[in-house]
Amino acid sequence: MSRIAVVPGSFDPVTLGHLDVIERAAKIFDQIHVLVVHNPAKTALLPVAQRVSLIERAILDAGFEGNIIVTSWSVGLLVDYCTEVGASVIVKGIRSQVDVAYETPMAIVNRNLAGVETIFMLPDPAHAHVSSSLVRQVAGLGGDVAPYVPKAVADFLQNG
Ligand code: PNS
Repeated sequence: MSRIAVVPGSFDPVTLGHLDVIERAAKIFDQIHVLVVHNPAKTALLPVAQRVSLIERAILDAGFEGNIIVTSWSVGLLVDYCTEVGASVIVKGIRSQVDVAYETPMAIVNRNLAGVETIFMLPDPAHAHVSSSLVRQVAGLGGDVAPYVPKAVADFLQNG
């Protein structure tokens, strides 16, 4: 039986921390769906289609595209997507206790809704301080985001 996992998030934009989790998850599961989901609680920097294309580019550049699908979801619950593609697991990166507190209620709700389990994965500590919101802020104020994001994202944010 093929083990499919979904790595969901806003990915606005994808960071090196996200990429690290995607790469680790892709080594454990047969197939990974990186799912860009619009989070209404956050003010977006990039359109969803742009986020998808930057993740695709970053995965290609990193050379680990084999079992990874990148797509987006806007028509319902995250677990509806999981059910549709036959994924029984959601993978989320956890940088700190703050992330655990943020992710735990969502993980429990997703399990209650559809029996989809969430696995928390620890990224490389080198990325522990990296977040999309920090990148959005630094980029918005003209700072260099190259140390925090894949090259494709840094190029896009710098040159459009
Ligand atoms: O990167 P983010 O913004 O922390 O990701 C949060 C996201 C998009 C994964 C979460 O908001 C989500 O799952 N949204 C989809 C709607 C949904 O299923 N909500 C109920 C379960 S929490």
